[in-house]
Amino acid sequence: MSYFTYKNKQLHCESVPLARIAKQVGTPCYIYSYGALIEHYQAYDQAFAELDHLICFAMKSNSNLAILRAVAQQGGGADIVTGGELFRCHTARVPTDRIVFSGVGKADDEIAYALELGILMFNVESAEELAAIDRVAKRMKKVAPVSLRVNPDIDPKTHPYISTGLKKSKFGIPIKDAMKLYTTSRYKNIRFVGISCHIGSQITQLGPFEQTAERLASLVTRLRKQGVTIENIDIGGGLGITYDKEKPPHQTAYARVIKKHLGPLQTRIVMEPGRSIAGNAGVFVSKVLYNKGQGAKKFVVIDGAMNDLARPALYGSYHEIRTVRQTTARKSKVDVVGPICESGDFLAQNRALPAVKAGDLLAVMSAGAYGFTMASNYNSRPRVAEVLVHGRQYDIIRERESFKDLPRGEHVPKFLVSGRRPK
Ligand code: LLP
Repeated sequence: MSYFTYKNKQLHCESVPLARIAKQVGTPCYIYSYGALIEHYQAYDQAFAELDHLICFAMKSNSNLAILRAVAQQGGGADIVTGGELFRCHTARVPTDRIVFSGVGKADDEIAYALELGILMFNVESAEELAAIDRVAKRMKKVAPVSLRVNPDIDPKTHPYISTGLKKSKFGIPIKDAMKLYTTSRYKNIRFVGISCHIGSQITQLGPFEQTAERLASLVTRLRKQGVTIENIDIGGGLGITYDKEKPPHQTAYARVIKKHLGPLQTRIVMEPGRSIAGNAGVFVSKVLYNKGQGAKKFVVIDGAMNDLARPALYGSYHEIRTVRQTTARKSKVDVVGPICESGDFLAQNRALPAVKAGDLLAVMSAGAYGFTMASNYNSRPRVAEVLVHGRQYDIIRERESFKDLPRGEHVPKFLVSGRRPK
């Protein structure tokens, strides 16, 4: 079901008109639907109901405390990649035994923090990282729960920047090397508890997932023969979503494939979906500032920009753009651009959009994942507000930054204050 629909010619999130929120919190802003978020979470939960499973929401897609809390309330956990994300989880009271720690570059202090809090497992990506975790755990007199992230060398058929399961990518450990690491007795402060894999993001076909599951199944069987305990199989990030015309498989079809190949192994299935939970649960709302013609080209200049939503500029991603007030105005091809001083600052190019005028609101759809989390302060633009809608109610779940927030922590050294110049 769609949680963003027109009622009385006004685009609503659940039962609240977007225009009402924009009026109160200003623009640009991110607006999320609680109902959509939960529906997407439950799609995984229900599809995998027959298997022992844990949904660790990939919080890199959306790390707002309210979103994390909502997922945790449903029984979910988090897939984290930094100490900062762990801090957010802790603050949002995500149970620590539902947290998996992924990523190729965990630093000693991040490892120590995770050991201190007692997470479910570290998804380890190299032999050196394994040694580092063992060393930190030894110092803390702890035993670290570890799964090795294997690189299955499978093409996920997605954008090259978000393909991670190919041999040439920086992610995971080649299967042959992982087999050796699992059976080494060198690390006394490591306990192997699982195996993990993540081949990429925005995957819209089942084939690559099925190939991965097959490969994992044969690996787990081989490992068990060698006496290695595998209690968790982490199948990585989730399904792709519809931004435009993509038709990703449903969670039930995905679960069927996983059950077929991994079900017989009787482990817990851990998964790390991000985009498919948060992506279509959020929109980015921005106001039209100006219309501008440049030769044959038409630009709609809005108050939102690439620093707020980087995906179009960074990956050339498509996001549907809707007018917040439903209109039958004639469409023409425009570029929707922001105020940032770069030609890469666009949210849409050559897009057929109804005529709009200054003050009109636009909703950039499918922006709930990798939207706010990738925002920056470029051009000294304060990061925008985030709002969570629940039925007829809405809450500001992140205040808009103020100008005062911008130079926080910056200092002008004394020699500049006094006006003297360095020799
Ligand atoms: N687990 C790991 C280890 C990951 O690296 C990722 C995403 C996920 C889970 C979540 O994957 P998802 O379910 O969201 O597909 N900024 C990019 C996406 C980067 C994805 C990186 N890793 C974008 O805006 O498309």
